[in-house]
Amino acid sequence: MQVWKEYQEKNKERFLNELLELLRIPSVSAKTEHKPDMAACAEAVKQRLVEAGADKAEIFPTDGHPVVYAEKIIDPAAPTVLVYGHYDVQPAEPLELWKSGPFDPVIIDGKIFARGSCDDKGQVYMHIKALETLIQTNTLKNNIKFCIEGEEEVGSTNLGKFVSSHTELLKADCILISDSAMISLKTPSLDIGLRGLSYIEVEVTGPNRDLHSGVYGGAVANPITILAKMIASLHDKKNRITIPGFYDDVIESSDEERKLMAEAPFKEKEYKKDLGIKKLWGEKGYSTNERTGIRPTLELNGIWGGYIGEGAKTVLPSKAFAKISARLVPNQNSGKIAKLLIDHLEKIAPPSVTVKATLHHGGEPYITPIESNAYKAAAKAIEATFGKAPIPVRGGGSIPICSLFEKELGIKVVLMGFGLDSDNLHSPNEKFDVANFYKGIETIPYFHKYFTELTKNEVIGN
Ligand code: BES
Ligand code: MN
Ligand code: MN
Repeated sequence: MQVWKEYQEKNKERFLNELLELLRIPSVSAKTEHKPDMAACAEAVKQRLVEAGADKAEIFPTDGHPVVYAEKIIDPAAPTVLVYGHYDVQPAEPLELWKSGPFDPVIIDGKIFARGSCDDKGQVYMHIKALETLIQTNTLKNNIKFCIEGEEEVGSTNLGKFVSSHTELLKADCILISDSAMISLKTPSLDIGLRGLSYIEVEVTGPNRDLHSGVYGGAVANPITILAKMIASLHDKKNRITIPGFYDDVIESSDEERKLMAEAPFKEKEYKKDLGIKKLWGEKGYSTNERTGIRPTLELNGIWGGYIGEGAKTVLPSKAFAKISARLVPNQNSGKIAKLLIDHLEKIAPPSVTVKATLHHGGEPYITPIESNAYKAAAKAIEATFGKAPIPVRGGGSIPICSLFEKELGIKVVLMGFGLDSDNLHSPNEKFDVANFYKGIETIPYFHKYFTELTKNEVIGN
């Protein structure tokens, strides 16, 4: 649409500068010290939505960080799209590995470097600017609602309550989320699924206090050694997970699905080079894309214990800890897998130590049906601005609220992410390509247009 293009071209510099301003707010949800920044960020998002033309915008306090809600209602009878995203970000540590300040955004080689640039403030902002484009060019034909939360990176703990107590407010015909990646601007793709997550923490206790490793070493089990052994036993030689029952509920992808997946381009050499590794690793019998898309996995997120300060200290520590998570695929259940994991760790612990395992957040896997109007509209929108149809792929990350929205609101989610896997999400030097930011702003109005047309045709067809 020429009017959209012209409007966006005229305002593109301002769009970018506004995003940089949002990225300067250190909205780290995990840390109490950032509570005022979280409130300030929610306020800024609300303000931007109002400026973009939302006719109602409100901050809803929760037991944790606030939810920003906004809407532009054109006609109650017209289709409604609910845009979900998050304004919170992951902690920026380790700070010394950043080439520029995580909350001091810079643009280098066409890339915006800042925490949250891609995950997810940059992608949320594309939607706000798409709304502005549609309103300013007088071309909005559907209703748009926004639900931008502040606790995605800490498990969306309070969003469930907000959603279930505001089902009327959030009522929509589809949910649109840009919080994931595509293969590249040359090879656009759409995520048709995300993995679920079970996250636990384990504490292994040996002696009741730290001991002199010379006086007691050799006679008392070292909890770090025990924990390391327990962890090492969780994968077998084929890199399959050894926890009994772990794969029981997995629905194997059909040969046809796997054949389709194999069509997505994958350059092993570049992949390894980007990550600085010589060899890939993973479950035998599956390709890399399958390992991160259709297979469940088990990862160590952190392991610690004993002395990790400067110099050497000869100590036989009392305790060792690990944070362990599993990525889940459709039909696996987050609570069930967490329990399997906890029970298994307790069972394999030798009598020389005691094991205490606790549950963190989790979430269920999600699949978007490609025959839904929302998926069709997203595919058409991509085709309109990229000049080619997107490849449907399965994303490896998790957005637990997808299944929650479906359960509470009965609406399907479509994932239209504009990031790249190489955007350093959750890592130092997170970035978002300026070109991807603009491409998102360009594409989103088409989504609204096509979704509205497809939905209206369906109603007339009936
Ligand atoms: N945006 C990500 C999820 C994502 C990333 C999906 C890349 C697809 C591709 C989201 O913010 C995230 O990081 N989710 C967490 C889970 C959450 C419960 C902390 C994750 O996947 O680890
Ligand atoms: Mn995200
Ligand atoms: Mn994230």
